[in-house]
Amino acid sequence: MRILGIESSCDETGIALYDTDKGLLAHALFSQIAMHAEYGGVVPELASRDHIRKALPLIDEVLTEAKLDRDDIDAVAYTAGPGLVGALLVGAAIGRSIAWALDIPALAINHMEGHLLSPLLEDNPPAFPFVSLLVSGGHTLLIDVQGIGQYELLGESIDDAVGEAFDKTAKMLGLSYPGGPILAALAESGTPDKYLFPRPMTNRPGMDFSFSGLKTFAMNTWRDSKQTEQDKADICLAFQTAAVETLAIKCKRALKETGHKTLVVAGGVSANKALRARLDAIPHVDVSYPRQAFCSDNGAMIAFAGAMRESAMVKQEQPTFSARPRWPLNELIPPIG
Ligand code: KG4
Ligand code: ZN
Repeated sequence: MRILGIESSCDETGIALYDTDKGLLAHALFSQIAMHAEYGGVVPELASRDHIRKALPLIDEVLTEAKLDRDDIDAVAYTAGPGLVGALLVGAAIGRSIAWALDIPALAINHMEGHLLSPLLEDNPPAFPFVSLLVSGGHTLLIDVQGIGQYELLGESIDDAVGEAFDKTAKMLGLSYPGGPILAALAESGTPDKYLFPRPMTNRPGMDFSFSGLKTFAMNTWRDSKQTEQDKADICLAFQTAAVETLAIKCKRALKETGHKTLVVAGGVSANKALRARLDAIPHVDVSYPRQAFCSDNGAMIAFAGAMRESAMVKQEQPTFSARPRWPLNELIPPIG
């Protein structure tokens, strides 16, 4: 079965074709970062309009790359949430319309399940059960994963997501948008141990996170410094080290609590090199990540999640669709059949 994946939940239009026998056939992405950078963050209405402009040309692009026609598509998987409602509605409308026109099944995919399963697209994929750490701009989640659709939430952020804390700290330091990767690059020239930032919520039991205090700590440290370029790099490094160490402490707790020996990390922040180095150093644990290109939003993870839920694919009886700006992972169920 060949599945067309459509991702449009935020500021990236991602399209891919996944074959349940041959694997990933083609993928294409258009990032709206340059457009939103001018405003210092994502402008939802501009995002929706740009998804409309880019989705169909990108679909043609992946079909050409895979040397296939529209008629060769057997099913459509599209992101139906969580995300920006207008942006989601574009992907849902296009996905459902294509399925309706071609008389093929379509499936609404949860964006976070897409991220969660994305490391399974790689060679030697991790086997269930495992602990999943999902770190993106909107979510910080620790999940006990028993199988597809069997997700038990172990911990989450009670305030800012870790990616959001990277972005807000970067913005406060005058770095451009999106701040996460820029802050991480600047941290490389930081002086180790110049500043020691707190590891929030690690001295009490549980696996929840809180990152908004780290951002405030960075702000106060910057205010009290001489505000040189070196101070900026030192603060970036101290912030990143604290965020990474906090994530690692909670991952170790989750692995201990569940008894799992495999940790699977995904979402935009899983691209962070310091985070990967720290998690790889946890003894007696196998750690898997998506390839760099699939850490942030992409169509491949949505097409793949569709393939994993192939048995739940149904032809629509009515030409209707909906999107869910909020859609907790633990509301998902395993595919039937
Ligand atoms: O998964 P994603 O592309 O979109 C969401 O679903 O939110 O994640 C984007 C987030 C942003 O906050 C971005 O700054 C962060 O991932 N990010 C990073 C790095 N690359 C992306 N944060 C830290 N270090 C990085 N290298
Ligand atoms: Zn995402």
